[in-house]
Amino acid sequence: MTGKVKLKKYQFNTVTISGSKNSSLPIIAGCILCDEQVILNNVPDISDVHLLISILKNMGIDIVFKNNNVIYKPSFVKQKYFNYNSIKKLRGSYYIMGALIGKANDIHFSFLYPGGCKFSTRPINYHLQAFKNMGIKIKANNKKINFKGNKHAATHNLPFPSVGATINIILASSKIEATTYINNASIEPEVIDLCNFLISMGANIKISNRTITINGKKEFKKTNYEIMEDRIEAGTFLILGALHDGIQINNVNPKNLEPLIDLLKQIGFNIKSEYNTITLYNKKESLLPFNLEINPFPSFPTDLGPLICVLASQINGISNIIDKVYKDRISHINELQKFNINITNYDNIISIKGINKINNCTACALDLRCGAALIIAASLSNEYSIITNVENILRGYEKLSEKLNSLGIEFSY
Ligand code: UD1
Repeated sequence: MTGKVKLKKYQFNTVTISGSKNSSLPIIAGCILCDEQVILNNVPDISDVHLLISILKNMGIDIVFKNNNVIYKPSFVKQKYFNYNSIKKLRGSYYIMGALIGKANDIHFSFLYPGGCKFSTRPINYHLQAFKNMGIKIKANNKKINFKGNKHAATHNLPFPSVGATINIILASSKIEATTYINNASIEPEVIDLCNFLISMGANIKISNRTITINGKKEFKKTNYEIMEDRIEAGTFLILGALHDGIQINNVNPKNLEPLIDLLKQIGFNIKSEYNTITLYNKKESLLPFNLEINPFPSFPTDLGPLICVLASQINGISNIIDKVYKDRISHINELQKFNINITNYDNIISIKGINKINNCTACALDLRCGAALIIAASLSNEYSIITNVENILRGYEKLSEKLNSLGIEFSY
């Protein structure tokens, strides 16, 4: 699918942030652990959510999406009806592995390696090692993974605080009535959101530094749970507002965006954070270039790395970015060069030299956040830019045209 973007006339406005994609996916998969009804609120109306729900429906699960709510009713899992084409398209589909292990006593199913954004090599060896630690026998070839056996609680020492591996261990362990420890765990807000969801059904989960301790519960009771805000969507709009005449965003917890807010203040922006609102005012005369190292939360999020490059291109001087989460996350570089952005990668240090005037062009949304960076770059030109593979962007942004149009940026597809 192809889209076009141009700046009409930017106007300061308030944008309400939707529910989090990266929180919704594990929580929706985690519904199957519940022994009673689950209602989720604030679920974003995006294609990744619909894809995951369609995979679950194909497994015989009674789950529906309606008006940003998801309703799950306890159901029997017919594992043989996995929708393999959909699994290959969605990274978050691998949470079904953790949830199925968490749900079943006698585990026996096969799964595919997940698909999703290909901005880097994305192995799942930590996930599989963790399941093995829990006593599950795993046979894998380069297509399918077979899981068999009975699970038990274990202590997991993650080599890196992987978001996906931490979530899969939590899903797989939350109904075991013994103590599970995850050391060097991811403590991203979306991981905490999943823990709070499981706690609302009866699990006992404690987080201290980077150790997560789970004392599971055999039966999970019904819950009505509100998904947290999408902090990456919030960050996307803050960066956009920083490049134009400011912005106000609603329905956000400023604590979850602290590393971005701190960086924007360091660059020279005036930002006011209140209870659930962040306001960024017009930029100061001179903005400062920056050096940024990206690490797991509470550091700056890797998903905003490609986007902050566009801001750097409009600041006098050289900014440098090193991503220590995905060292080879560089899919956006060639595409941003098409807009006349002076961006290079040498030895996994991304350097951007500003200020270059942005040209309109045709560029490809190679993945979700590469695509978001292209929209921001295209918003700096009064001429249409053409963005191909727009479906990659729509995977993660709800009502994107509507929200951009309210700011005076035209986006249609
Ligand atoms: C999740 C997010 C993604 C975000 C990323 C980092 C979802 C659906 N996706 O991805 O948007 O960019 O967190 O915040 O929530 N690793 C291994 N082996 C493993 C697992 C990870 O080597 O088994 C490595 C990865 O290659 C990467 C690092 O660990 O270098 C972090 O990856 P991880 O946190 O697991 O990312 P995802 O969960 O895939």
